[in-house]
Amino acid sequence: MTDPAPPVIEIRDLHKAYGRLEVLRGVSLSARKGNVVTLIGSSGSGKSTLLRCCNLLENSQRGEVLFEGEPVEWRGEGARRHPVDRAQLIRIRTNLSMVFQQFNLWSHMTVLQNVTEAPVTVLKRDREEAEASARAYLTKVGIGDKCDAYPAQLSGGQQQRAAIARALCMEPRALLFDEPTSALDPELEQEVVRVIRALAGEGRTMLIVTHDMRMAADVSGHVVFLHQGRIEEEGPPSELLDAPKTRRLQQFLSAAAAA
Ligand SMILES: Nc1ncnc2c1ncn2[C@@H]1O[C@H](COP(=O)(O)OP(=O)(O)OP(=O)(O)O)[C@@H](O)[C@H]1O
Ligand SMILES: [Mg+2]
Repeated sequence: MTDPAPPVIEIRDLHKAYGRLEVLRGVSLSARKGNVVTLIGSSGSGKSTLLRCCNLLENSQRGEVLFEGEPVEWRGEGARRHPVDRAQLIRIRTNLSMVFQQFNLWSHMTVLQNVTEAPVTVLKRDREEAEASARAYLTKVGIGDKCDAYPAQLSGGQQQRAAIARALCMEPRALLFDEPTSALDPELEQEVVRVIRALAGEGRTMLIVTHDMRMAADVSGHVVFLHQGRIEEEGPPSELLDAPKTRRLQQFLSAAAAA
């Protein structure tokens, strides 16, 4: 049976350049509710840019971005193109919560304050309710005892889990991860992978940029290989990672395995 609901995130034939540098050259992808899509590719292939175009942190020059079937309304052409409807932009951005490689926690706020800040200020949630929800999410990611600690008092893996709790506390429709484990030592990395795997198991919609092929194989249903701003190959992890068809993906995977 086909799913009648539109994808949570969809992009169609997206083009993005920085000046004369064409970073995305006609990329289309979508994630339906519960889909976990991973983006892989060499450094500079456009993965972060693509993720940032999805939640409108970056403008694109051509192509469509749709959130739950609703197309972003643009004004202007080419390099001047930008979203016209501010309410739509905020709705999309708050519904596609991003988790960054470098955690981006506020160093002067406790973990609890970090997690409740946006729900209270952006979503205008009641502070007590936001705190109760924050404590629940911090417990879920395994750091319920760190509510009153400052980020500097946490390990990298704990900081990243706090950042994931912060993203979850926005009750987003999808989570966007940009290399969530690359700043971490291998043993701390596993703590974060476990959390992401649990989120995938709950049926959360996620787009994940990663260099970790094991995580891609483990958590995602669909893998997209970007090469120089185009999708070179895509498919289920069993096909894409175990039986790559294109020479470029074969080379990329052997380099990744040797690293
Ligand atoms: N703000 C910017 N201004 C100009 N060029 C940029 C900007 N951001 C990215 N680029 C360029 O766009 C290209 C794609 O960058 P992007 O960060 O999307 O790559 P990536 O696939 O995420 O790489 P990595 O694996 O190293 O994170 C690169 O050539 C990069 O130098
Ligand atoms: Mg990147």
